[in-house]
Amino acid sequence: MKWRLILILFIIILSGSFVIHSCRKDQEDVPGKTLLAFTIPNGFPPPLYNFSKNPLTEEGFQLGRMLFYDGRLSKDGHYPCASCHHQVAVFGTYDHDLSHGYNDQHSNRNAPALFNLAWKNEFHADGKYKSLEEECLDPIQRPNQMAEEIGNVITKLRNDEHYHHMFKAAFGSDEITIERMEKALAQFMVSMITANSKYDQVKRGAATFTDYEQRGYALFQAKCASCHPEPLFTDMSYRNIGLKLNDNLKDFGRLVVTGKKEDSLKFRVPSLRNVSITYPYMHDGRYASLNSCIEHYGNNVQQGTTLDPLLTNGIHFNSSEVIDLVAFLRALTDSTLTKDPRFYLAH
Ligand code: HEC
Ligand code: HEC
Repeated sequence: MKWRLILILFIIILSGSFVIHSCRKDQEDVPGKTLLAFTIPNGFPPPLYNFSKNPLTEEGFQLGRMLFYDGRLSKDGHYPCASCHHQVAVFGTYDHDLSHGYNDQHSNRNAPALFNLAWKNEFHADGKYKSLEEECLDPIQRPNQMAEEIGNVITKLRNDEHYHHMFKAAFGSDEITIERMEKALAQFMVSMITANSKYDQVKRGAATFTDYEQRGYALFQAKCASCHPEPLFTDMSYRNIGLKLNDNLKDFGRLVVTGKKEDSLKFRVPSLRNVSITYPYMHDGRYASLNSCIEHYGNNVQQGTTLDPLLTNGIHFNSSEVIDLVAFLRALTDSTLTKDPRFYLAH
């Protein structure tokens, strides 16, 4: 099954690069020489990312990696993508509710972990962006994040001889453009895959759950999986889970994007993979522990017109069930990506 999917994907990539070559607009982009296979983990659905428009290559990946860690993408040089997206926290900000940006200002939301992005086609807690390529320009230009103008970024990159070589290797000529920068960053980010937690090993028959984890899994399937379904642990929808409006941030979530009253206070259901190392939690990082998240579903759900019907009466657990559920959530942790040297700062 897995090999069949990989094969199909290769065919898509090949036919896609044919289209690219025959299409005038993208004529100048010749993908790097070393095609990278994108392996779909066991049990995962086919990815949504359009690889035909941006074939994954080693040269593109390495350029994306360089850019992701490069402070010159920010105004004062101090805020590369990686300053908020830390590899140890699966490329999220750990230990801070909101992340720090230019002039030590705070971002408006908690920086989410970045992984399994090839299975998403909407980004940000409110789904403002429809592609990874589009998304990258947002943090660069935001005054409280990287605070830089795109034109300045391109000028800085053009002044560095090394980048000319890298762009040439990744896209066929040494022309440095916004589109190529976006494509390279996207290649690096779609490669951030995590699918080797204890849960995955159990599914493959390579490990067994403890009794706690097994009971927690059953509770999870009964009470949480309707919004956080396996294997991605999110159904990608936007829901209001009854979090009290944060008076400082006044963040109405999905409403800001659609303008529809019925979307008020709805936020994207996040994946729960690696959740034990991506604290603090929720779009504004208001909860510091898994226990407080579970406590939320039991005792803190605010009633309101857009509250998800599944949560009208809350979801309640006794204290031993909480222990079981947390044991299961911890079994979703995978250190493969956090320890992978291919994703370290390049030297
Ligand atoms: C100052 C901190 C900060 C910096 C620097 C930063 N980000 Fe982010 N990033 C965030 C925050 C906060 C969010 C959540 C935005 C939201 O939901 O509104 C986010 C969200 C994202 C997402 C969406 C993930 C998802 O699943 O929806 C991607 C992708 C991303 N950032 C990539 C990047 C890239 C690429 C760069 C560098 C060009 C970058 N970020 C720089 C803080 C930062
Ligand atoms: C009605 C849909 C729904 C149900 C049911 C649900 N969740 Fe959630 N969950 C969400 C949404 C939406 C968010 C994000 C809210 C936000 O960011 O403001 C979330 C966030 C979380 C977070 C924080 C993750 C992070 O990275 O910030 C945890 C932990 C969590 N849920 C665990 C659970 C558990 C455990 C259950 C079962 C008891 C559960 N959820 C049931 C929709 C749901």
